[in-house]
Amino acid sequence: MPARGKMGGVPAVRSVYVCQQCGAESPKWSGQCPSCEAWNTLVETVTIRQPASPAARARGRGAVAVGPGVISPISEVQSAETGRLPTGIGEVDRVLGGGFVPGSIVLFGGDPGIGKSTLLLQLAARLAAAGHPTLYVTGEESAAQVRGRAERVDGVVPNLGLVATNELETAVGAIGGAAPSLAVVDSVQTMTSAELAGPAGSVGQVREVATRLAELAKAGRTCVALVGHVTKEGTVAGPRTLEHLVDAVIYLEGERLGSTRLVRGAKNRFGSTDEVGVLEMRGDGLVEVPDASRFFLESEQPPVAGSAVTIAVEGTRPLAVEIQALVAPSGAGAPRRATTGIDVNRVLMLIAVLARHAGLNLTGHDVYVNVAGGLRIEEPSADLAVAAALASSLRERPIRSGTALAGELSLAGRIRPSPRIERRLAEARRLGFTHLVTGASSRHGGTGGDGALHVTDIRSALREVLAAD
Ligand code: TYD
Ligand code: MG
Repeated sequence: MPARGKMGGVPAVRSVYVCQQCGAESPKWSGQCPSCEAWNTLVETVTIRQPASPAARARGRGAVAVGPGVISPISEVQSAETGRLPTGIGEVDRVLGGGFVPGSIVLFGGDPGIGKSTLLLQLAARLAAAGHPTLYVTGEESAAQVRGRAERVDGVVPNLGLVATNELETAVGAIGGAAPSLAVVDSVQTMTSAELAGPAGSVGQVREVATRLAELAKAGRTCVALVGHVTKEGTVAGPRTLEHLVDAVIYLEGERLGSTRLVRGAKNRFGSTDEVGVLEMRGDGLVEVPDASRFFLESEQPPVAGSAVTIAVEGTRPLAVEIQALVAPSGAGAPRRATTGIDVNRVLMLIAVLARHAGLNLTGHDVYVNVAGGLRIEEPSADLAVAAALASSLRERPIRSGTALAGELSLAGRIRPSPRIERRLAEARRLGFTHLVTGASSRHGGTGGDGALHVTDIRSALREVLAAD
């Protein structure tokens, strides 16, 4: 057999420089990442790989004869959905797509302190109490600390095991040995593999931890739930370094000081990513919010100036959401525009549309827009409610009582009807709104057969919803 060069037979030690920001690898160090151009983000990462077996090398060249055993008729392949494990917390199951899928790996991301450890401990305890053995690997806190939290959240149950370790190999051994239904690894940033030289939390380590745990999950029926802190840039351990390694990415979001927590899917191989779950952080852990749609309605009747309600649709769920605007004369200098829960650029556009097409000039005013309850709204259908809230605040007149709004505004001041209007309408009715103002399409005009009030442009919409003095 001819010599295979210096790689043959001995483990290959390779040193690469991995950008902690984007995960790109470079063979040599430089001050700036050649890929994402971030500064001082390259960290040396040493990898030790065992040489590939001759069979693997042959596979690499794509020429292995396979027997009929390799090919399975699709009708005989078991669906990954088989044996889904509902956690019993409906708001989380909704986002997962019905529960954990055996043999999968799910990443739970979120800011430090948002409640990831609490949620995962609760999920592990629920499943354990239902007779599915679970394992909680803690690299961040001691076993005693986790026990303390378990007491608060009613999580001291049989079938729930704890492992306190920072070593990936120990975690993998424990999970592989116990083969639980669910294994929580808290967190990906605190586990290190002895095979890599980088520090805990570096991209190389984080990727290795996720890869090994993904392999472990795929090899059996254990579902691995991996906890990850979000970095300053807003993603788990550097953009996109982990997302492609896992089956689903679930974010836990919310205002740090408020008690609402939103569970949102960013990727899900086994379900939709539009669903959102609503939880509330209490003294005894995270609890489901009974009527989530009502939850984002802050004000009580009678309506106040500057507040408007939209019916948003997140996934399959309609949510009534209150938009609050405050318009106040600004002092010297450029007026302030600040938002929470909605893109400030969208609001700037709406301010321009109001000026041009509704005769409402806000150039001398500071503008603040807030989405109640800590929700973040992305869909343009909220435009109409935002514009109405701004107009209502400026005119100091409340929106007509019992009115909700849903429609996208065009730069020409026209209102486009919202998609899934029937759903929004049904939800508005259920919550006691008597009017839903939306855009007009060719099918509808005025009070169409569907019961919504279809209006063509922003000027007429404001005439409709701003109560006369
Ligand atoms: P934690 O789950 O430790 O957050 P993370 O793992 O995302 O860093 O939760 C931290 C916060 O939650 C902490 O400020 C205390 C609060 N908390 C409650 O309000 N109620 C509870 O029952 C628990 C366990 C925590
Ligand atoms: Mg934690």
